[in-house]
Amino acid sequence: MSNKLSYPDCSPNLDDDGKMKAFDDRINGILTSTFTGLGIVIGSKLKLLEILSTGKFTCEELGQKAKVKEHYLKEWLSLMVSGGIIDSINNEVPEKYTLPEYRKKTLVNGFGTQFMLMTPEYSKLVPKLIACMKINGPDGYEFDPHTARMRANAESEGEGEGEGHGHGHKSKHGHGHKHVHPKIPDWSKVKKTYESVPNLVQRLEKGINALDLGCGNGHLFITLAKQFPNSTFQGADPFAEAIEDANKEVKELGLKNVSFSVADVLALPEEWTGKFDYVHASRMLHHVKKPMTALQQFVKVLKPDGTFSLFEGGVDGFDRDFVGDVSTIFSKFNDLFCFGPTAEFNKEHTVGLGLNKKDAIKILEGVGFKVLVPEYQPSNEDTHCEESGNPIFRRFIHYVCTLN
Ligand SMILES: C[S@@+](CC[C@H](N)C(=O)[O-])C[C@H]1O[C@@H](n2cnc3c(N)ncnc32)[C@H](O)[C@@H]1O
Repeated sequence: MSNKLSYPDCSPNLDDDGKMKAFDDRINGILTSTFTGLGIVIGSKLKLLEILSTGKFTCEELGQKAKVKEHYLKEWLSLMVSGGIIDSINNEVPEKYTLPEYRKKTLVNGFGTQFMLMTPEYSKLVPKLIACMKINGPDGYEFDPHTARMRANAESEGEGEGEGHGHGHKSKHGHGHKHVHPKIPDWSKVKKTYESVPNLVQRLEKGINALDLGCGNGHLFITLAKQFPNSTFQGADPFAEAIEDANKEVKELGLKNVSFSVADVLALPEEWTGKFDYVHASRMLHHVKKPMTALQQFVKVLKPDGTFSLFEGGVDGFDRDFVGDVSTIFSKFNDLFCFGPTAEFNKEHTVGLGLNKKDAIKILEGVGFKVLVPEYQPSNEDTHCEESGNPIFRRFIHYVCTLN
């Protein structure tokens, strides 16, 4: 997928009739893509796509292997073939179906599918979101998209194997599913990000204390801990299962300079005050109920000469500059649905939710930071990779700050 979608009806070369026809086609395309997407969710959760990627199957064979009723399966197969997702092998009776090799990586392990799995969770939120958007409606609703994603993935992992275990990081049997258990990134993939922070690499080589708030699976700090044995790394996240997985990973790798604990940025231990030379908060602020309080906490735990890296989504420009921009469509959708949980019990202004750089810098300066570098950070979902794995994850801004 390129970074930019082209909308034929926006072409200046069409007359009004042509535009109307092209727009009509586009809406039909959106509708059929939505239906196909739901088919992908079903096929992914029932492991049909995974099985189809291993060979050619009749409906009956697939039904037996996946333990799925044949009459339902027949309709699903037709939907997926007409949607161009799986192929039916011509000239065979009974018909055989397969998932071509070149589609497998995207469909079975890809980030796109991983997010598509969340569409049922998002759909459930639509009435709540509509209620919140009304002037007299509630301020927000309870929902943690990160947890919901884990749950969506965990469900698809568990189903079919009768496991149904609680989260999507790694199965109980230790075989991580690639699409939910991304690898710990190589230093070579993330170094550009950390080299852009003035003097950070030199200080990490010498030995400093670093803290990652909202660390999730902790992969970024595990990478840094491996690269910089003289420094000490701590990660914190209220999501206990992610912390459990992160610590398991640390143990497996035998690392002594990194640890993870369950903590909410809004209630950090007193002994962390002024303790850290480097504080890192990546794509977490927009999840936090009181973002301004969180920003004050970042200030509080930082040493007076410390550095703070904040990664948050955002665009810099007018909406019309981003027509068809894939990562903007994704991040605006994400922000819209994240706004509910952030706004819950909270009247504060938030960074992260689509603020442009200028506004975000004003907010950061307001709590006592000096913003040294605000720049777009090409990033894929779970690593701040130099090369984006997928164009939908491009729009993150890395704000490098010191205390004023
Ligand atoms: C999108 S994930 C980002 C994970 C990781 N920092 C990364 O960039 O890969 C958002 C994380 O924020 C965490 N989070 C949500 N509310 C939080 C809070 N009040 N304090 C700290 N972390 C929080 C979530 O549990 C989740 O792990």
